[in-house]
Parts: sequence; structure tokens; C-alpha cells
Amino acid sequence: MISKFIACVLMTLLLVLKPAMSVAPSCDAVITSFAPCLSYLKNSESVPSTSCCDNIRVLDQQLPEKQDRKNVCQCIKLAVHIIGTVNNTRVQDVTSNCGSTLYKFPLISPDMNCDNVQ
Ligand SMILES: *[C@@H]1O[C@H](CO)[C@@H](O)[C@H](O)[C@H]1NC(C)=O
Repeated sequence: MISKFIACVLMTLLLVLKPAMSVAPSCDAVITSFAPCLSYLKNSESVPSTSCCDNIRVLDQQLPEKQDRKNVCQCIKLAVHIIGTVNNTRVQDVTSNCGSTLYKFPLISPDMNCDNVQ
């Protein structure tokens, strides 16, 4: 009975504390947050959508470490065959068009080099 209660308290604490910790996003989360940007990156919208920019600003806050940004690059590289061809001029501009200065997406291609990510 007591251990159940403690487990319950621990679970609640975990749920409460989780959003406060800065945790690098999973590959799935990265691809999901990247998805609303694709119509801009593929030239079918002239400006990035609000949801694209919102997601990029969140990514920005989640990626203060270079190693995390490299991991995001690896995620995108794995998804290149799903993402398909994008306009890399727009990949370079999407973050500044969203008013974000920290994170720059690497140029997206099947042989993108994630070691160069800053
Ligand atoms: C890529 O996007 C830029 C900026 O919007 C545009 O000027 C250029 O024509 C596009 N390139 C291609 C190949 O569609």
C-alpha cells in the first residue's frame, strides 16, 4: 500500500518536472516538428507557416548544445528519403524568416555532412 503511494507520488513528480528540464528532442519529435515547414521548403508556400515557425523556435530552445544539433542533423539525414528534394536556399533562410537566430538547419541532401553542423 505504502509503496504504491510512493510510486504514485514519484510518477506525479516526474510528470510535473519533465517540462521544466531541457531534454533534447527525439528523432520522431524532430521530424514531426519539421513537417509543417515542408511546404515552404518545397516551394509550395511563399512564407513559412506559423506552425512551422512555432516549432522552429521550440527546437531552438531545445538545442543549446552543438551535439544535440548534430543529432538533429542525423535525424533529418535519416528522413531524407521521406522528405525528398527541398529548396536549400529556403532551408538556409527558414530560421531567419521565422525570427530565430540560434539554430540553422543544415543543407538537406542524401550526403549531408552532419559533422559540419555548428
Ligand atoms: C528557392 O527559393 C528561393 C527563395 O524563395 C527562390 O528565389 C528560388 O527560385 C527557389 N529555387 C528553386 C529551384 O525553386
